[in-house]
Amino acid sequence: MATSFRWAGDENPLKLTEKFIVPDENKPNLEDVSDLADSIATVDMSKDEETQILDLSNACEKHGFFQLINHGIPKKLCDNVLEIITNFFNLPYDVKGDMLSTTHMEDGKFYRYYINDQVTNDEIFMWAEAFFHSWDRVDGGYFDNLPSDSEKNREIVAEYIKEVSSLVTKMLRLLSLALGLDENYLKGRLGENPQRTAQANYYPPCPNPELTLGLRDHTDLKVMTVLLADEGVPGLQIEKDGKWFAVNSKEGALIVNVADQLQVLTNDKYKSACHRVVNNKDRKRTTFGIFVGPEEHCKIGPTKELGGPPLYREYTFYEYMEEFRRQAGKRRRVKEYFRINEEGETSK
Ligand code: OGA
Ligand code: NI
Repeated sequence: MATSFRWAGDENPLKLTEKFIVPDENKPNLEDVSDLADSIATVDMSKDEETQILDLSNACEKHGFFQLINHGIPKKLCDNVLEIITNFFNLPYDVKGDMLSTTHMEDGKFYRYYINDQVTNDEIFMWAEAFFHSWDRVDGGYFDNLPSDSEKNREIVAEYIKEVSSLVTKMLRLLSLALGLDENYLKGRLGENPQRTAQANYYPPCPNPELTLGLRDHTDLKVMTVLLADEGVPGLQIEKDGKWFAVNSKEGALIVNVADQLQVLTNDKYKSACHRVVNNKDRKRTTFGIFVGPEEHCKIGPTKELGGPPLYREYTFYEYMEEFRRQAGKRRRVKEYFRINEEGETSK
């Protein structure tokens, strides 16, 4: 299990010691990265609905990642949110340290570093700060852990999350139609109150980015992720056929990706792509991810109406998260655990 990360007063805990140096097989080769920025799909929400349906569906099938433009969330709101997040990470380390927690759901304190469970069993730390927290008013309860000047900020962030939620609802409707299902189908699989969690990430400049990772390779767990990121700053990469491709946020775009539950619901038609974050030598990068997913009691499995033999057994999202927690410390293979093998059995 994770050990806690120690803060020493106001000192920056990110120092390029061996605790941050990832094993050779995880080291990013920054020379060997192809730029997918132009080939990764851009989905334009100002186009007619038929085009949106086609573009969204193609993007989810091909890379599972796309840039969403003309999405209707005011630029000013997006800018304000990134500014709030950046200001938060610029707080002195002793202030942030008071909010540190290395486990989920402990006293409502969610400030934490990415730690060992992301790379190997050798407890290697990510070169990143992350604040995983119930930013959303509907989740309630945890705002008091933010610095005292956050009242106005809460309103702004809550407004942004509300906008992202409607955007996801809209995309799920269009994807349901693309799949030939009732327009409310995918949303209906998430329950009455779909989970919405948010994580702010800060990747400070790193003296030698070839040695560290900002976030190790993983797939996202829920249904869909919407990422707001500093424009044009490299960092996010997706894996395709064993190669890594940079995905740099375009002007005014949100980066959207398919997460595990959507891959399972579509019986692998849509791809929950493996991705990671690398660091930059001279530039910091701030991102804010919203993860939308099913309520815990919801049953997830391949949609029968789509035909074909089901590739996964049915499970509840609670079971999925249990398996995720069980795999702490290893590279996540959560959906693989529920996969039906060639003999028609699951690993369970
Ligand atoms: C994540 C994630 C990417 C980024 O938080 O799951 O993939 O660029 N973030 O911060
Ligand atoms: Ni991710």
